[in-house]
Amino acid sequence: MSKLDKQTPDTAENKPTNQAWGGRFNEPVDDFVARFTASVNFDQRLAQQDIQGSIAHAKMLKQAGVLNGEELESICNGLQEIKADIENGNFAWSVALEDVHMNIEAALTDRIGIVGKKLHTGRSRNDQVATDIRLWLRDEIDTIKPLFTKLQQGIIGLAIKEADTIMPGFTHLQTAQPVTFGHHLLAWNEMLERDFGRLLDCRRRLNQSPLGAAALAGTTYPINREFTATELGFDKPTENSLDSVSDRDFAIEFCAFASMLMTHMSRMSEELVLWASAQFQFIDLPDRFCTGSSIMPQKKNPDVPELVRGKTGRVTGHLISLLTLMKSQPLAYNKDNQEDKEPLFDTVDTVADCLRAFGDMIPAVQANKESMLEAARRGFSTATDLADYLVRKGIPFRDSHEIVGKAVAYGIEQNKDLSEMSLEELQQFSDQIAEDVFKVLTLKGSVAARNHIGGTAPDQVRAAAKRAMELLSIRG
Ligand code: ARG
Repeated sequence: MSKLDKQTPDTAENKPTNQAWGGRFNEPVDDFVARFTASVNFDQRLAQQDIQGSIAHAKMLKQAGVLNGEELESICNGLQEIKADIENGNFAWSVALEDVHMNIEAALTDRIGIVGKKLHTGRSRNDQVATDIRLWLRDEIDTIKPLFTKLQQGIIGLAIKEADTIMPGFTHLQTAQPVTFGHHLLAWNEMLERDFGRLLDCRRRLNQSPLGAAALAGTTYPINREFTATELGFDKPTENSLDSVSDRDFAIEFCAFASMLMTHMSRMSEELVLWASAQFQFIDLPDRFCTGSSIMPQKKNPDVPELVRGKTGRVTGHLISLLTLMKSQPLAYNKDNQEDKEPLFDTVDTVADCLRAFGDMIPAVQANKESMLEAARRGFSTATDLADYLVRKGIPFRDSHEIVGKAVAYGIEQNKDLSEMSLEELQQFSDQIAEDVFKVLTLKGSVAARNHIGGTAPDQVRAAAKRAMELLSIRG
């Protein structure tokens, strides 16, 4: 049974012929079609922005001489009352009235009478909805921004704490070279910093006012688009009326940003899940971010990172939905665009929840320094350091690579790390190896030697963390 079949019949009207456009119709719209084409069940989420847009439009209509002062006052008061009713849950939404725009307009006319019908002069639901979604998304972006900053502060804070903590760095998930845990965490921060930049780009590009584009071609009334744009906090009015009512690229752009962010968070999640496992034991996740198993008493499952990893799929799915929705749409507005809202809403909610969950969890991650160090000791992670040492002694890199390869093979056979071999053992592979070799074979020496911008040395991690914190502080 479809969701639409289950919807309770509309209480506002028996015959859902819409009063806003029913004039040219000979019969009421089919009951099912009314429910099929309605969007009010989801687009009521735009109510506050719809009212905000209507108030700006009404003020402009007064300037244009369409409304007098009294009419403007009564429209604004009526809209404010409706706003309060919606906030308090005292508003009866009607499916027969199709969408958020017509529900509010009808309620206004019910309250203030005929003057309410003047509000829609010089605009269309097409520019109205385009304005509402932009306003809504802008508000949501502004609530997402601090969540982002909080998460980054948490990551950078942990990086500072773990600047000296040594762990194995991986390529192909095989032990490669030792790194510091702080350095690894700052890699995550870089991903997020770029994502934040993409979010700001999206906000900047969407912040133009489509209001006044009307249905598609503009309007014959002497409207003032600059006024409404300024009133609504937009940078300026959009340039082209056809484009204004039709494109949803700003929503797509947000979903592209969100998909990238979720992809990054899925990578972090994957690492957290691996690290929290009995096999790695690199970290402990606090109990409050985990759940148990109903059958296996010993289990502590890293649900939060697993779910964030899983939710990445749905956000990327929404991006694909919106791209496919927009594909091949002729100018200008098409009803297809009503389908933009649910994917966008869900993307915003999902991203905000994931940022929040991570923002709370990351600062509470406990590093098991001993296990990390032990893991770095296994896997010959200082082999490259030995090769570089031989190069400094005058051996060409390709030859030193070969020499160290042989030493590693010997180590595997003897079950010994390079740093555990005696000088005599090491000298079997090259007579260039001297007592000073042990300085480079230690894990500490290895990380400290990578002492340049972007390198893993603890001092570099501290300096990079400081720069990253500074960037956060000038975000405002
Ligand atoms: N509910 C519609 C939407 O979300 C509003 C615009 C409807 N315009 C129209 N001409 N039917 O897109």
